[in-house]
Amino acid sequence: MTTPDEDAAKAAYAPAAIALHWIVFLLVVAVGWLGLLHDSWPRTTQAYWINIHAMLGLLMFALVLARIAWRMQHPAPPLPADVGEFSRRVSHPAHMLLYALLIVIPILGVITFVFHGRVFDFGLFQLDLHVPRNRAIFHTTEDWHGYLAYGLFGLAGVHALAALWHHFIRRDGVLRRMWPGLPRP
Ligand code: HEM
Ligand code: HEM
Repeated sequence: MTTPDEDAAKAAYAPAAIALHWIVFLLVVAVGWLGLLHDSWPRTTQAYWINIHAMLGLLMFALVLARIAWRMQHPAPPLPADVGEFSRRVSHPAHMLLYALLIVIPILGVITFVFHGRVFDFGLFQLDLHVPRNRAIFHTTEDWHGYLAYGLFGLAGVHALAALWHHFIRRDGVLRRMWPGLPRP
């Protein structure tokens, strides 16, 4: 026999998964916003802001890898019983696609950064990979980095709308599973 509290805890994501989900969300907003501003900076400060974009992007990448490693050992909690068939079928592939974008976008960002001849400035030290500037490579990867970032913004937007639909229309407790500090359904 399990107590109602134990049942509720099983239906929610663990605190570590919730923390990582929302920290990564905030970093995607910050990094994406800086990315969209790249062409607006004055020439003198552009390299500085692209480096900040890269630093936050690398932090996000490290947290996504930690999140995936953690998640591979901790399966998602079972969905509430009243979640419909369509949501059950679509949510898993959508989450996998989000994870894929969160991996591929930073990798393309690093390739773009390095083949542009830029130097990572971590504050305490710099990392210069001495890769010769190669316009053919960085133009292509920069384009794809941008296209996939727009794809991520679109898919994450639909994902967020779906979570709000579950919460306000279906009222099935799906958003509570991922919301920090709320009593569980
Ligand atoms: C999820 C994480 C990231 C998102 C959402 C993101 C988003 C963006 C966006 C929207 C752009 C502008 C694209 C355009 O104007 O078409 C951009 C450009 C760029 N990003 Fe990222 N980025 C991410 C991570 C990274 C990382 C980790 C690095 C490098 C370590 C990086 C390096 C760059 C570079 C070098 C550019 C081109 C800047 C230029 O020379 O104009 N990005 N990014
Ligand atoms: C950059 C934005 C976001 C990204 C990349 C993202 C990514 C993800 C991923 C990959 C998962 C699957 C977790 C797992 O099972 O391992 C997930 C779950 C979830 N996300 Fe997001 N998310 C974002 C924003 C949001 C927002 C804004 C909301 C709410 C308005 C939200 C609500 C949820 C909920 C409720 C779940 C759990 C779904 C379930 O129980 O099956 N997410 N998210």
